[in-house]
Amino acid sequence: MIPTLTWTGEGVRFIDQTRLPLEESYVLATTHEQVADVIVTMVVRGAPAIGVSAAYGVALGAIQSRAATPAEFAPEFERVCARLASTRPTAVNLFWAIDRMKRLFGNLRLSGATMEQIRQRLLAEAHAMYNEDIAACKAMGGFGGALLPQQGGVLTHCNAGALATCGYGTALGVIRSAVEQGKHIHVYADETRPFLQGARLTAWELMADGIPTTVICDNMAASLMRQGRIHAVVVGADRIASNGDTANKIGTYNVAILAKEHGIPFYVAAPWSTIDMATPTGDSIPIEERPAVEVTHHAGKQLTPNGVGICNPAFDVTPARFITAIVTERGVLRPPYSTSLREMDMVAR
Ligand code: MRU
Repeated sequence: MIPTLTWTGEGVRFIDQTRLPLEESYVLATTHEQVADVIVTMVVRGAPAIGVSAAYGVALGAIQSRAATPAEFAPEFERVCARLASTRPTAVNLFWAIDRMKRLFGNLRLSGATMEQIRQRLLAEAHAMYNEDIAACKAMGGFGGALLPQQGGVLTHCNAGALATCGYGTALGVIRSAVEQGKHIHVYADETRPFLQGARLTAWELMADGIPTTVICDNMAASLMRQGRIHAVVVGADRIASNGDTANKIGTYNVAILAKEHGIPFYVAAPWSTIDMATPTGDSIPIEERPAVEVTHHAGKQLTPNGVGICNPAFDVTPARFITAIVTERGVLRPPYSTSLREMDMVAR
């Protein structure tokens, strides 16, 4: 299994996704501040992986604290959570994970737990989220794999794989599962400008699994669809509003429009922790603007003239009407999503 993030006893060891695929190196974060840094710099990225990393960051905040009592620790705990929450605004999994840690801390304080018990329980909660994430990916893989054709080309955008989760992946979990079900899938991986998650990360992890993969530049998808080489699209998500509007890597919306025009099913695969029932539509989803240097430069080399204007939104929103189905660990949701998401949310409560 790809070691996206691993608890070592000292801290969290991250595979450095800024250096893949040419170099397989690791970064050890032993403080919550270092965890925040690896999230901001995208050493670790992908909504579920960001959420679980933040949970470990909160646990590290408690482990590193010199506070003798929970009451003394409480203001520091708030600062740790706020720092981690400030890292990336779009992936709701980040806030979902931090809120879960806050609820646990609150309950432990009420129950009279000691500081040592709090440290242990927060770390155990982060471990639980890690294991739940892998289980969710496997479950959604099973549901989503059944939707893919017996044979054909499947386009994906960005990296929603093992590297974006604690293992197995969401969109790539669906593809992995289809392959495990005996389907003959050829993956087309959009390169995903500007950070190249598709060209670098999706290609690397699918090749490691021996799944046939072709990298295409983002502007080639329409042409391949017209040639009949793409039979389905499957992508991940950073936040799904309660009406089904879905924020994912910039360029996802283009792919969804192209898929609709060509009559190709467009699937979103995401764990329930990516669904934000408190956000009514995609218009309310905050979209992260990343540094201009990601567009102006590639591998340290300048591509654009000095001083040119740069726009670098990291995500876009695909309106629900373009989405054929949303695959979660609880099952497959179909439109209208306002109804299907609400019903599945109620069932799980
Ligand atoms: O900026 P990134 O690389 O964190 O963006 C990642 C994506 O957009 C993924 O598709 C999404 O987080 C789902 S990951 C299972």
